[in-house]
Amino acid sequence: MGVFIIDGGIPLKGTVRISGAKNAILPALAACLLTEGKSVLRDVPDLEDVHTMCDLLASLGAKVDFNVEKREISIDTNSVTEYTAPYELVNSIRGSFLVMGPLLARKGRARVPLPGGCAIGSRPVDLHLKGFSALGATINTGHGYVEAHVKGRLTGARVYLDFPSVGATENILMASVLAKGQTVIENAATEPEIVDLATMLVSMGANVTGAGTDTIRVIGTDKLTPAEHIVIPDRIEAGTFMLAAAMTGGEITIENAMSDHLKPVIAKLRESGVEIAEELNCIYVKAPERTKAVDVKTHPYPGFPTDMQAQMTAYLSQAEGTSMVVETIFENRFMHISELKRMGARIKIDGRTAIIEGGVRFLGAQVRATDLRAGAALILAGLCAKDRTEISDIYHIDRGYESMEKKLQTLGARIVRV
Ligand code: UD1
Repeated sequence: MGVFIIDGGIPLKGTVRISGAKNAILPALAACLLTEGKSVLRDVPDLEDVHTMCDLLASLGAKVDFNVEKREISIDTNSVTEYTAPYELVNSIRGSFLVMGPLLARKGRARVPLPGGCAIGSRPVDLHLKGFSALGATINTGHGYVEAHVKGRLTGARVYLDFPSVGATENILMASVLAKGQTVIENAATEPEIVDLATMLVSMGANVTGAGTDTIRVIGTDKLTPAEHIVIPDRIEAGTFMLAAAMTGGEITIENAMSDHLKPVIAKLRESGVEIAEELNCIYVKAPERTKAVDVKTHPYPGFPTDMQAQMTAYLSQAEGTSMVVETIFENRFMHISELKRMGARIKIDGRTAIIEGGVRFLGAQVRATDLRAGAALILAGLCAKDRTEISDIYHIDRGYESMEKKLQTLGARIVRV
């Protein structure tokens, strides 16, 4: 298992290109199961989670060809016969639970392991199941699996989500496109990744309107055709690079980034003093002499993303003044804080609030990535720390950041994978 070694203190300079979004490609891969034939996905990031999802689709009988050089996956789903997802693949990424909706819609049956808890919280799937059952599926759970089946086709229904869950919205949306009649998903998640999924489904022939608002309407169709789809850029990767520039006193241009998807991050960084210019598909970031404390509260989109909370906490440790960060989405998403403290951060946790005393100059240390975004926060701290930082358990980072160290190296950072 590798580690990242970072010699901090270099202001980042230059241009970096953002990869396709992890959280858009996972549902897009699952959506291919809705058709019979060959779909092609483009601008696919070379991430561990994507490989795992490809393995899962292959285990169901799909022919999957991931051409990493071309950033393209072609998936032929003609030969999908299985409806049981293997435990080891679903357990390692929660996103793989997204095969349940498409399998149920196409095969009338799906058997998928209940995803385990993970470092950031218990992460139940009750809302996904509530949706399937509203669409007419019979659900049984036992022996660590969820089994859903329906006689004939699913039937469109009105589904109200108690919380705008991203995964539940995607799973129910995918189940509903082949259902009989109309489905309305109320209090739906509005994340750009939902819009991207809906765009792909429409290109397959689905009738979906309202994606990106809290009410999604679907009129079911009998059959969908394979799609060719380009996934949207990863807004969390772009946001992480924005912070990397701001924290190292750098100046960078981020290509293939959609600033409209990053409004809360851009607003908070501007409030804190960072200079940002938004152009078509491109964001320019210049660090000021000093950054100021700001308060941040995570919310479903279009609020501040929970997936940027750990990185923002690292950033605010350097900003002058005291900041408060409130995490409202996940119950245990402060694991990075004890590692940041080992690098000199002064942070107190009170329930779901982190109180950050800023003005810290990080000191290099040996630290451990406890989850994906926690790992990103440690990289940011290491990039501006005095002396050497060594980050272990970087497989978490590889799950969601493509060639992180190579991209940082092109911006001048001294980071190596050992
Ligand atoms: C997705 C993202 C993840 C991001 C999260 C929130 C993917 C692959 N992952 O995860 O990176 O951090 O959105 O923006 O897209 N909940 C329930 N019952 C459910 C489902 C969710 O109570 O059935 C709760 C969760 O425990 C959590 C909250 O809802 O507290 C948000 O979860 P959700 O939006 O579903 O996140 P994911 O889709 O798992």
